[in-house]
Amino acid sequence: MNPEPLARFHEWLDEARAAGAPEPEAMALATVDAIGAPAVRMVLLKQADEDGFVFYTNLRSPKAQALRVHGRAELCFHWRPPGRQVRVHGVVEPVTEDEADRYFQSRPYLSRIGAWASEQSQPGGGSLELSRRVARFCLMHPVGQVPRPPHWSGFRLVPEWIEFWQERPHRLHDRVRYHRAPSGVWAGGNLFP
Ligand SMILES: Cc1cc2nc3c(=O)[nH]c(=O)nc-3n(C[C@H](O)[C@H](O)[C@H](O)COP(=O)(O)O)c2cc1C
Repeated sequence: MNPEPLARFHEWLDEARAAGAPEPEAMALATVDAIGAPAVRMVLLKQADEDGFVFYTNLRSPKAQALRVHGRAELCFHWRPPGRQVRVHGVVEPVTEDEADRYFQSRPYLSRIGAWASEQSQPGGGSLELSRRVARFCLMHPVGQVPRPPHWSGFRLVPEWIEFWQERPHRLHDRVRYHRAPSGVWAGGNLFP
């Protein structure tokens, strides 16, 4: 086992992919809003490195509003096979405009159009309304670059702790949590399952 948590995370992600775990980049994102109400939903991991864990979304969505109020969140991955969970807890910051532009431009044409067409989490958006909006934005941006909508960008969760949970027989699972000291050094220890 790699003792460095980011390297271990990538090892586990690769092993989940190799084991055939469905959508291994999918992770639950838990937030708390202005009145203390929790919310959780799935998002896709787009980057994980020493700076943090990055995902993209609509900045007018409830999750983005919650993150602006409480810049703290938790991510949870579950992979079966091979029976593993990783939790990543920390503070959240916006990605830079450049990063968001670069990632946005790497997306397929219709995904870029979709970012314009979807008023994420607003009432409405049945398939007919959505197709009409997609058609409208396709006409506005028929070829070439679709600009990134001003209300679409990413967040980076900078971990304070990362926990690895490995399924074992008889529920005697293996749990290791690593905390990051202000110096940046990680220290890990077991937790009872
Ligand atoms: C597997 C999966 C991946 C998803 N990935 C994203 C994502 O990367 N970004 C996003 O905004 N929504 C994503 N969604 C949709 C969200 O779960 C959610 O419905 C939407 O973002 C609205 O959330 P909110 O109202 O809490 O802001 C995904 C859903 C699933 C099931």
